[in-house]
Order: sequence, then structure tokens, then C-alpha cells
Amino acid sequence: MLKEAMPEGPRVIIDATFSTMREREADDTGYGFLRDGAAVVGERKDYLARLQRRTSVQPAPFATWSAGGRLITPGLVECHTHLIFSGDRRTEFAELASGRNYSDLVWEGHGIFATVEATRAASEDELYSSALRRLRWFVSGGVTTIETKSGYGLDVDNELKMLRVARRLDEAGLARVKATLLAGHVYPSQIEPEDFIELICSELIPQAHAGKLCDFVEAYCEETIGFSLDDASTLLEAAYKRKIPTRISADHLSDSAGAALAPAFYAKAAAHLNYTDDVAIEALASARTTAILLPIAHLELGAKQRPPVDKLREAGVPIAISTGCNPGTAPTTNLLTAAHLSCALFGLSPLEAIQGITVGAAKALGLSGVVGELTPGANADFAIWDAEHPEDLIYWMGAPLCCSTWLSGSPVRE
Ligand code: NIG
Repeated sequence: MLKEAMPEGPRVIIDATFSTMREREADDTGYGFLRDGAAVVGERKDYLARLQRRTSVQPAPFATWSAGGRLITPGLVECHTHLIFSGDRRTEFAELASGRNYSDLVWEGHGIFATVEATRAASEDELYSSALRRLRWFVSGGVTTIETKSGYGLDVDNELKMLRVARRLDEAGLARVKATLLAGHVYPSQIEPEDFIELICSELIPQAHAGKLCDFVEAYCEETIGFSLDDASTLLEAAYKRKIPTRISADHLSDSAGAALAPAFYAKAAAHLNYTDDVAIEALASARTTAILLPIAHLELGAKQRPPVDKLREAGVPIAISTGCNPGTAPTTNLLTAAHLSCALFGLSPLEAIQGITVGAAKALGLSGVVGELTPGANADFAIWDAEHPEDLIYWMGAPLCCSTWLSGSPVRE
């Protein structure tokens, strides 16, 4: 996949229906439609300079590109993945499908531990090329910004190796890639938990920070297989003291109260939240933490309890949707399928689902006004669709509707 050469300097995209997804749009649909619009790109770097009616754009001296009457939305934002890993978990998929319990598999040494073993054994280059392949799949589905995590290294060298891969993916120029140090995923068996926490706080976080290798630090607070509340809090504090933005994964398989940590560390996002209670919902609302919902993992694990969407809405917690792409509970790179399932399984409206993979996901990454919406001054990242209405993207579950993906004002192509 390469960025297609575009004329230098200002250019204008015409013959399109734009859906800006701007939150305060003078358009009562919520989609911010601009029909027969024109987008001016490249007047100042590769930002979107202007978006207006075609008739009000002077044709010369700009180079023009026709979208052939297609729908243009902001490039999609994927805010929670484990894109970087080695090995596969095909047999575990079959086990889960036959009714085996995910936590039991983890404690038998499968699940996350199987991926840790394979990821440790892989070289940085091997991890890079397999992750790049998956990144291409995301990009071909309209994704222009993506977050990915470490968390399958569970020691200093291997966690840093994963983060270096994330930085190389960003440099590849196919999408904007944000890196999260998932410092607390599960406890490795080779080291006592308290020594592991000490290692994370005194070596891993400082080294990742000094090397500018991470944009966020995250803890998976989950009493069944992940980190305890106390340990999650300790490592988030270590990140917070260094002013590294924090994230939480919590209440996935049980109520571990992890989401309630959000205000203490101004967490940007909290993911999963199936078992999150009323107190933690208030905490998320007060910290303006974005709730990231992961319907694919919910489906794959046959989860009994869904996240408290009505209460999150009532409390005004911002919502984002993600694939949660990982080799175990969410082997997919199809963000539109996740968005579809957020409606079918969790009761979101199609508008909420689209917001969840654009403006909402941008919020989760601290990138409001920069990506996830078409607004002057934002990055000129677009997805161009073979669709008439943004709701078609949600309704046609996983259909290949993306015609092209644009990053910084130019198409990204095979
Ligand atoms: O989202 N943050 C939690 N962990 C992943 C599971 C990853 C795996 O099974 O490899 C999750 O479910």
C-alpha cells in the first residue's frame, strides 16, 4: 500500500456528499451532511482547509479530484487494538465455540499466555511484518487512525520491542498509529507479582517514556485473569506522575471496580465495562473518560452481561466503539462489523455507532478536532464509500463498501 502521488499544493475534492460528523453541526440529522460539497486540502500543510458548497469554491488554480458523487466521511478511528502479536489461536477459537470458558483456557496456559510465548519468540521484524499486514486490512476498511498496545511481552525487553513496532507502523505512513504501553495485562508466571509491579514502575514505564515509545499507559484491571485494583492503581500512578496519559480496561469478566480509577488518573478511556456499576459510571462521567465498547469480544465469549449502555448515556459518558482486535477474543479488523454489533447487541443507534468510530473514538485518544471529524484545521483524513447514507455502513454488516482511504489529503492504495 502506498500513498498515491497527488499534486503539490492546494487541491479540491468535488462531486461528493460529505458527512462531517462534527458534534455541533447545524444539521439535525447528527451526520453533518454537505451535499454537492467541495473540500479544499493542502492550503496549509495537509490539513482540511475548507469544506463548503461546490459553487462557492473558485475552481482555479486548484487541482481538482472528483469523488464521483460518493459519500465521504472522516477516516475511521480505531481506538483499542492488540495489532502486534505473533502466533495464532485457531484451536482456542474452536474450543471457545464448543463452549469452553475463556478464563479456564488462560489458566491452562492458553489464551493470553500462548500469545506471550509466541510474541517473545518473534523478532521485531517478524512482529512488524505481521502487524503491518493487519494494519493494511484496517486501512482498506477506511481506518486512518488506530491505537495499538503492547501487553504480550510481560518483560521489559519484549514490551519495548512491541512498542518499537508500533512506532514503525506509524512511520510506515498508512495510518496514524498511537501506541499504548499495556504495562499491566496479566501477571507472568516467572516472577512474583510484587516484583513485576516494581519492574513496571521502576524500569518499564521510565524506559518507554524516555524512549518516547508510548502515548498512553494502560492497565487491564480484572480480578479473574488480569491485574488487581491495587496493582492497576500503582502502575497508573507511576504513569500519571510522568504525565503520560492513562487508559483502563476494566470490568470485562467481573466487577473489579477498575473503571472507578478513572478520575484519580484522568484516564482518557476505559474499555470493556460489561460489569461496571453505578458508582464507576459516575466516576467515568466526572472524569469525562470515554467508554470504549467492544461488542466483538462480547460475542466471541458468549458473554452474559452487556455494558450498561443506557446508564452510560444518561450519565453523559462519551462512547466509542472498537473491534478490540486481538488473536483471542476478537480476531477481526472489521470496524464496521463492530459498529453494527454495537447496535445489534448493545442497543446503540446507528448514529451513535458511527459517532463511536469517528468523533467518539477520537475523544478516547485525546484527538478531538484533529481526527474523526471533517472540520477546518483537522487532518485531511477521509474514507470514501460506495454508499448513499452513513447508516448504510452500519446496516450492511461488514460489507466492503470502502472505495478509498485518504491520509493527510492523499489516497492510500495497494
Ligand atoms: O480485550 N485487555 C484485555 N485483553 C484482551 C484479550 C487478549 C487476548 O485474549 O489475547 C481483550 O479481551
